[in-house]
Amino acid sequence: IKEKAIAAIEATDGLEKLNDVRMAVLGKTGELTAVLKGMKDVAPEDRPKVGQLVNETREAIEALLEEKKVKFEEEALKKRYESEKIDVTMPSSKHTHGNLHPITQVKNQLTDIFGSMGFEVYEGTEIETDYYNFTALNTPQDHPARDMQDTFYLSPEFLLRTQTSAGQIHVMENQKPPIKIISPGKVFRSDDDATHSPMFSQMEGLVVDKGITLCDLKGMLDEFVQEVFGKGTTTRLRPSYFPFTEPSVEVDVSCFQCGGKGCKLCKGTGWIEVLGAGVVNKKVLEGCGIDTDIYSGFAFGIGVERIAMLKYGINNIKLLFESDMRVLKQIDD
Ligand code: PHE
Repeated sequence: IKEKAIAAIEATDGLEKLNDVRMAVLGKTGELTAVLKGMKDVAPEDRPKVGQLVNETREAIEALLEEKKVKFEEEALKKRYESEKIDVTMPSSKHTHGNLHPITQVKNQLTDIFGSMGFEVYEGTEIETDYYNFTALNTPQDHPARDMQDTFYLSPEFLLRTQTSAGQIHVMENQKPPIKIISPGKVFRSDDDATHSPMFSQMEGLVVDKGITLCDLKGMLDEFVQEVFGKGTTTRLRPSYFPFTEPSVEVDVSCFQCGGKGCKLCKGTGWIEVLGAGVVNKKVLEGCGIDTDIYSGFAFGIGVERIAMLKYGINNIKLLFESDMRVLKQIDD
């Protein structure tokens, strides 16, 4: 029995089989148990001897069973550790995260730049009256400049603002100089092609204080374009026309792609048009009750999409409004 049991134990390959052997030998109906049960048939004088033999056999088998059991358990544990092993040097699984819309990113960047120059933010409303959008900006009903901006009228009095310049009037009506604000927001014009959308974003700027001149505007703009397009970029002012500024200028930035030598982006001119600006027309200041003998100011209007398109090399404004993830994912500053 002992030898058979030892051979059987050695042949097992797992805890389950080991238990089968235990039952077959030491269980209620096991072989060795049967011998013990048969003790009553053994002659009394032989009983101690047989008993001792049976006990020794049982102890030897139990010891071997225990030894095997420990071995199997250790192996199982080792296997488990191996399968659960974590390599802390492995790269982690990628977490996808959203990012702000390119227009929001550029708006925030511009706001930060102007914020660092001491500008405060005034957010106007998208629905305006004809008075704030045009009349108070020196653009009366019959003024030809109204044709420059195709307006969405909601009623004879109300309209969707065509320019954030409307905010200038609200600020000047409610605040005494010195004034130094920017006003970001959506504007609307019935205009639709590769570079124009019926809805787009502007950022207005207005500074009113004692002794403000066009030179102050130029100095601030030079600072501004270096922040947006990189060190070394400068601006150039070209004469233009807006009813609410006099003189009015169109502002070009030196081409940040070719450094002014002439490339496809600047159409060989070395300059890219970026915004409209000017010295605030006296009529506008006076209309808001500001004494033009003491105060003067400058204003500018930036097209946010235009800056975004230049910065990120986008040639169709519609790409900024289509919510195409392939486009949006690429722009995360
Ligand atoms: N409001 C003008 C436009 O939308 C831009 C502008 C703003 C020009 C301020 C001069 C001063 O075209």
